[in-house]
Amino acid sequence: MIPLLAMAVSLFVLIIPSIIFYKLCWIPLHLRRLMESQGIRGPPYRFLHGTTKEIIKIKQQTKDAATMDISHDIFPIIQPHLYSWIKLYGNNFLHWIGTEPEIVVTEPELIKEILSNKEGTYPKTIVKGYFKKLLGDGLVVTEGEKWSKLRKLSNHAFHGDCLKEMVPAMIACVETMLEKWRSYHGEEIEVCGEFRLLSSEVISRTAFGSSYLEGRKIFDMLSKLGVLISRNMFKIRFFGIGRFIRTRDDIEADKTEQLLHDSIMEIVKKRQFEVQSGKADSFGSDFLGSLLKGHHDTDPKSQISAAEIIDECKTFYFAGQETTFSLLSWTTFLLAIHTDWQERARAEVLQLFGQQNPNSDGLSRLKTVNMILYETLRLYSPVPSIIRRIGSRVKLGKYEFPANIKMAIPPLAIHRNPDIWGRDAHLFKPERFSQGMAKATNGNPTAFLGFGYGPRTCVGLNLAISEAKIALSMILQRYKFTLSPECVHSPLIVLTVHPQHGVGILLRPL
Ligand code: HEM
Repeated sequence: MIPLLAMAVSLFVLIIPSIIFYKLCWIPLHLRRLMESQGIRGPPYRFLHGTTKEIIKIKQQTKDAATMDISHDIFPIIQPHLYSWIKLYGNNFLHWIGTEPEIVVTEPELIKEILSNKEGTYPKTIVKGYFKKLLGDGLVVTEGEKWSKLRKLSNHAFHGDCLKEMVPAMIACVETMLEKWRSYHGEEIEVCGEFRLLSSEVISRTAFGSSYLEGRKIFDMLSKLGVLISRNMFKIRFFGIGRFIRTRDDIEADKTEQLLHDSIMEIVKKRQFEVQSGKADSFGSDFLGSLLKGHHDTDPKSQISAAEIIDECKTFYFAGQETTFSLLSWTTFLLAIHTDWQERARAEVLQLFGQQNPNSDGLSRLKTVNMILYETLRLYSPVPSIIRRIGSRVKLGKYEFPANIKMAIPPLAIHRNPDIWGRDAHLFKPERFSQGMAKATNGNPTAFLGFGYGPRTCVGLNLAISEAKIALSMILQRYKFTLSPECVHSPLIVLTVHPQHGVGILLRPL
């Protein structure tokens, strides 16, 4: 008995450390050498922490040193580690989030190959932890047949005639916002909060047939999860320790996920009840209606499960609000500074709509406003990183990569590349887009990644652009605005890139 016990103990003592050594030392060193042999370098891997401590240090140093005057060159400020490492190690480099390797790719040719792939060579990463609670297994993260089924459904709900039908609701939402602005004439108004409310109201009404107030609990829960994710982004948890030791944030996240689930169920059940009680004769033609129709579909291939409905609702409430409010905030910020472009945009709006509300026909003819929106997305891209993983061993350009490495594509790095955008890449110059996207990007389709690229391009692109055009048109019809002298330029990543201290503007009625 004793020799057996001794053997078990010695096995334990020998095997566990060997596994730890293999996973945490040998694999990283081996990968580092493999990458270096192909010319991909990067900051040194530190035991257990990878390069995470270095990232936190560089971010802190930048924060301490930053005096953000009004410069649009925000990449070195909000992603300073990527900025430094691209300069030091080249366009593509290897770094580590804890023990997880991540290759940062900024070479347009490679990005094109990664994002246009349809064979599943570069799937989305497997989401875990707080991210899983936020997005579930919804359209943003899912893969394969489930992705095709969900993408088809949302393509239909957010394009063509369905999108046209949303225009009156969007106008009504903007009118409500502007009604409130009347009490701010001649005073400073912080528009970031206004646009957050507006984009919440728009997605609630257009996709879910409810109001912001009904969906309020959902947005509060999503925001809470967003804060928890950002707070824990670079905190490393070793050996699945999270399963045994629950932090205060873990408990908070569990609670928030449950409340989020319950709040979504309330809205879903309300719609179902309307049909069951005979108040309505169908589930409706909006996104929620399509999901419910899919739920009752008898064809197993297109049927949507209850869990899928919840995940899609989370995904669209989140994606529909978080990105669009960022776009509107940055556009207003830029037009408040570049008043010449504000004048040009106003002239176009007044010529097309006069004092009438916008209409879908006119929206597609707003060329200057379109150029301004795309230039804003180039300089202040709301999505800071597009992430994929290498599914199995692969050849990419001149490189060969083993499986299971994450790939990160930071749009801002590409958007400020002087080889593509010129030496004035960090300046606000909407005229770049005057001859269309192909000309602006020199025929390089992945030089602009505001909405991603390839099969996983943003499905809400048209909704976001229509919403932004309607809101801007209606503001420009009523007001001239300038930046408040109190406004501090403070871009920050909290899931998306947004102004940390808001955007204060001074309104002058026309
Ligand atoms: C200015 C506003 C927006 C920006 C900048 C934006 C940006 C993006 C980007 C860059 C991607 C690609 C992500 C990747 O390839 O991994 C994406 C995907 C996605 N977006 Fe947007 N988005 C915006 C608005 C919206 C809106 C309004 C909705 C919903 C109505 C939405 C829903 C989605 C969804 C569901 C995906 C995943 C699509 C898929 O994987 O098939 N987005 N978005």
